Amino acid sequence: MGILDKHKFIETNATALLVGSFLVVTIGGIVEIAPLFYLENTIEKVEGVRPYTPLELTGRDIYVREGCYTCHSQMIRPMRDEVERYGHYSLAAESMYDHPFQWGSKRTGPDLARVGGRYSNEWHVDHLTDPQSVVPESIMPKYGFLKDRMIAPTRIADRLSTDALVGVPYTSEMIEQAKADFTAQADPDADSEGLLERYPRANVGNFDGQAGISEMDALVAYLQVLGTMVDFSTFQPDASR
Ligand code: HEC
Repeated sequence: MGILDKHKFIETNATALLVGSFLVVTIGGIVEIAPLFYLENTIEKVEGVRPYTPLELTGRDIYVREGCYTCHSQMIRPMRDEVERYGHYSLAAESMYDHPFQWGSKRTGPDLARVGGRYSNEWHVDHLTDPQSVVPESIMPKYGFLKDRMIAPTRIADRLSTDALVGVPYTSEMIEQAKADFTAQADPDADSEGLLERYPRANVGNFDGQAGISEMDALVAYLQVLGTMVDFSTFQPDASR
């Protein structure tokens, strides 16, 4: 009997085909899944990645609410054209505290994974208020109304607790100080020592340039931290894995 004849037996016998398929899928599944149970963590810890500050987290919620993800991705793929345009490819650890993640799949506008620090706060406010005033051919909608929507940190402690519930390492101190940290980050004259201790290298400033804390402040604070937590001048991928 040739090999093709043997295979004919499987192809013409439904029970043999089912049993054979079951065996193949089971073995394949075990080989793929079993090692995961022996790994402590599938995400490599990377120095510098920290939870979002209360103000950044608020800005992130506004980003999600406004559907910015329908036009912008936040994941730089490890391919040369992407890395040359946007910077170091995204690491899993960089979105480990994102609930929900904002990787996205649609790029009507550019990827925003590393937009932090690329432009000034004023640029962001001008651009969000009237994108065409900075990039004439832009088709991005205007978001100037965010400047008129003032926000207070009434529910920020609960917001942090909720993320803590799903594994973001917010400490009880961070949750207790959430209101104070929220306010301190948007005020360049405030005492931000505690904030910077809890959230190293957080940007402090009057992001939208007007009095009070608006949704624009929060959104710009969020945009300015994107992709800046890891220092890629010293980053070494862990070769032991
Ligand atoms: C209808 C699609 C669309 C939506 C929705 C949208 N954008 Fe954009 N965005 C664009 C396009 C197109 C560009 C490129 C032209 C420009 O800079 O305006 C852009 C550019 C940007 C840039 C500059 C990026 C760079 O590297 O130059 C930022 C920052 C940005 N958008 C933020 C946002 C935020 C925040 C939101 C939600 C509040 C948002 N966008 C919603 C289409 C969109």
